[in-house]
Amino acid sequence: MTGESASVTTPVVGAKSEPTLPRSGPSSPNSKSVSPKEGSPEETTTGILPAQHWVEAAQDEEIDNSDAESAMGSLASSTASLTASILEYRKIHGRTYHSEIGNASYWGANDEQQNEAMDMYHHLFTLALDGKLFLAPLDAKNIHKVVDIGTGTGSWAIDFADDHPNVEVIGTDISPIQSTWVPTNLKFEMDDCTLDWTFSPNSLDYVHMRLLVGSIKDWEALFREAYKALTPGGWLESHECNAVYECDDDSVQETSALGQWGKLFAEFGRSIGRSFTVLPDGIQRKAMEAAGFVEISEADFKTPIGSWPKDPQLKEIGQYAQHVVEADTEGYILYPATALGWSREEVTVFAAHVRRELYSPKTHPWYRQKVVLGRKPLVA
Ligand SMILES: C[S@@+](CC[C@H](N)C(=O)[O-])C[C@H]1O[C@@H](n2cnc3c(N)ncnc32)[C@H](O)[C@@H]1O
Repeated sequence: MTGESASVTTPVVGAKSEPTLPRSGPSSPNSKSVSPKEGSPEETTTGILPAQHWVEAAQDEEIDNSDAESAMGSLASSTASLTASILEYRKIHGRTYHSEIGNASYWGANDEQQNEAMDMYHHLFTLALDGKLFLAPLDAKNIHKVVDIGTGTGSWAIDFADDHPNVEVIGTDISPIQSTWVPTNLKFEMDDCTLDWTFSPNSLDYVHMRLLVGSIKDWEALFREAYKALTPGGWLESHECNAVYECDDDSVQETSALGQWGKLFAEFGRSIGRSFTVLPDGIQRKAMEAAGFVEISEADFKTPIGSWPKDPQLKEIGQYAQHVVEADTEGYILYPATALGWSREEVTVFAAHVRRELYSPKTHPWYRQKVVLGRKPLVA
């Protein structure tokens, strides 16, 4: 896979009987996208329904909870070059979360079930980008050192390193969940990206970040660190998703489980000061501008969830997106909902409602994804 071509496919508009689904935004890296606020449920007024609502609703319905208890994951076994404390995972209702490291706070589980879902996410992201790994106009012959911040299982970094064997690639994270079978030009480091970076100034040609939503208190500070570490002319690329599930046909009601999903994350993000409304608030562009980046451009994608799109490519993307959510529905929401005071039972029942709604042919949900590129000026 390669991302050398920065072009993005033109919007696809569905037939009248099918909800409209522009899959992607501008084709030029310099063009600006539609405002993410347009038609966003954030504009409406319904708040979060109480957790008990889902338990009561389930009493009248048949909800499949069978997979709820199968979420126990195993600890990552890769201990090379790690201190023991980094493997002292926190446990919440049988799921594991990263240990204390720096100022980091990440809401997702780091066990096997969540890691598998993250690997599927990687495939989904590349499908949505038409098989590209990145959109920055990199000159493959003139890049030497690349960093993937918050690399997760490292799938992106592995693919990038495979495609660029002469480039030194580093993936950083706060959980040691990466594969040990990696290309020789790739290494992983445990580091909290919200602290001062240890990379030498002007040493990186490209910095990639994906799905840090809900983990970052100060995006401008994060991007300032990237700016410092990049060489003049180097690129920063930030991929983020909106947690709100939208639709074009009223098939996702605000009071449905899918409609409540984004609200739950937004409320949790507010409570811990790490925003989940990165897209609606235009945080990526604002923070890049404030950090000094130039040639900033955006590309927007609307990713369907489910097999409802008629377009075969979108259908495939939608099916993958559905797998990603179903693969570990609880692993995404357990920590945020628990922090908001929900019980394990309430989370389990809510997750079952989410899965049931995803399976319903009556719902046509999609979510927004945004890629923002910025360049460190040649004369900085
Ligand atoms: C949703 S996952 C995305 C993983 C990967 N970027 C991808 O797109 O497949 C977010 C990752 O960011 C990591 N993370 C969260 N806060 C971090 C921090 N302060 N420093 C470094 N990594 C962090 C988490 O451990 C997790 O692996």
